Amino acid sequence: MIVTIDGPAGAGKTTVSRLLADRLGYTYVDTGALYRGIAYMARQKGIAPEDDEALAALCADLNLAFVADGAGHRLIANGIDVTDHIRTPEISMLASAVSARPIVRDFLLDIQRAMGRRKAAVFEGRDMGTVVFPEADVKFFLDASAQTRAQRRYKEIAHRTAQSLADVQRDMARRDANDQSRAVAPLKPAPDAICIDSSALTIEAVVTQMLDHIENA
Ligand code: DC
Repeated sequence: MIVTIDGPAGAGKTTVSRLLADRLGYTYVDTGALYRGIAYMARQKGIAPEDDEALAALCADLNLAFVADGAGHRLIANGIDVTDHIRTPEISMLASAVSARPIVRDFLLDIQRAMGRRKAAVFEGRDMGTVVFPEADVKFFLDASAQTRAQRRYKEIAHRTAQSLADVQRDMARRDANDQSRAVAPLKPAPDAICIDSSALTIEAVVTQMLDHIENA
């Protein structure tokens, strides 16, 4: 059983996906973390996000894995725990940039599908329902107004960055534009996705709606 949750940054995907997976007793897979892991490793090696040749070499030599850690997961890249380094505004933008490169998407496609074969799971990302798991059992597209999304993200990171709300809103708009306009696997709802706007909904209300849809699927 595979449930997919796609949508733009700040729509509440992570919180909702975690809770939903927990209620269903499924594994939760944050595919954005994989793109962030590649972005982080590329930056460590001084690789530009447009350098396909260097990105190919990086991927050929890269082992990315999630390791369970209490209620969450740690991301391990070539044996190194990179979890605490991948949530900065810089890595967010770099992840969006490397995610537009087909070589990176192809590399992660196989990894994500292999994860999907292992266990019932909730997969969170941008192209889960459209490209990675077109046959998923239930697909959701979670959205919210640009202002709501920026405010949520700002609240989440305010204690650890110097970014203002306006900075967060600007970065988010740039990232949305990148993610929606790229040629390969752009961010968009699958034709058979259930679209939920979370702007005026609590997390609990979103999860309840999703559980109802899954029960009736
Ligand atoms: O979900 P996130 O904000 O952690 O994702 C970081 C970036 O990774 C996002 O801007 C686009 C890219 N991404 C993607 O292209 N496809 C996915 N399935 C998940 C993330």
